[in-house]
Amino acid sequence: MAEDLHIDNSDKLSMYESLLPQLKALCEGEPNQIANLANITAGLKEAFNFFWVGFYLVENEELVLGPFQGPVACARIQKGKGVCGTSWEKEETLLVPDVEAFPGHIACSSASKSEIVVPLIKNDQVIGVLDVDSNKLADFDVIDEQQLTKLCQWLVSIL
Ligand code: SME
Repeated sequence: MAEDLHIDNSDKLSMYESLLPQLKALCEGEPNQIANLANITAGLKEAFNFFWVGFYLVENEELVLGPFQGPVACARIQKGKGVCGTSWEKEETLLVPDVEAFPGHIACSSASKSEIVVPLIKNDQVIGVLDVDSNKLADFDVIDEQQLTKLCQWLVSIL
């Protein structure tokens, strides 16, 4: 496929609906997991200019930093810790409008104000999470939740 992304910027839903098929096309036929995760973070960053977007992957009962776009971040997160570790433990998406109001939030950057974390669930097991941070309060809504969930559901089918 062409390497340029074409995003319909009319509104947020259109942005996701134009981006997701292109990400799928980009990853189709590529067996390397790191390459695919890296391209997905790059695509999300390019389309939405998120402050931080990346994956943490479960390895030996910890979340370990995977491909991401944005400032450097903490490399390991324990189950039940922070927004990512809580999403893993609860096996559910967490939408956090104000990270300072989330008990135990792990501040990799003080510029991060709101966050959404979607677990990657394969065969009933969390194998990682997709973490997206914004430098604006309450920057994520149900559209992000639905579309990022859709992305993650497809993603686990190729992991
Ligand atoms: N804020 C996350 C940690 C990861 S960084 O935001 C990239 C958390 O509380 O789990």
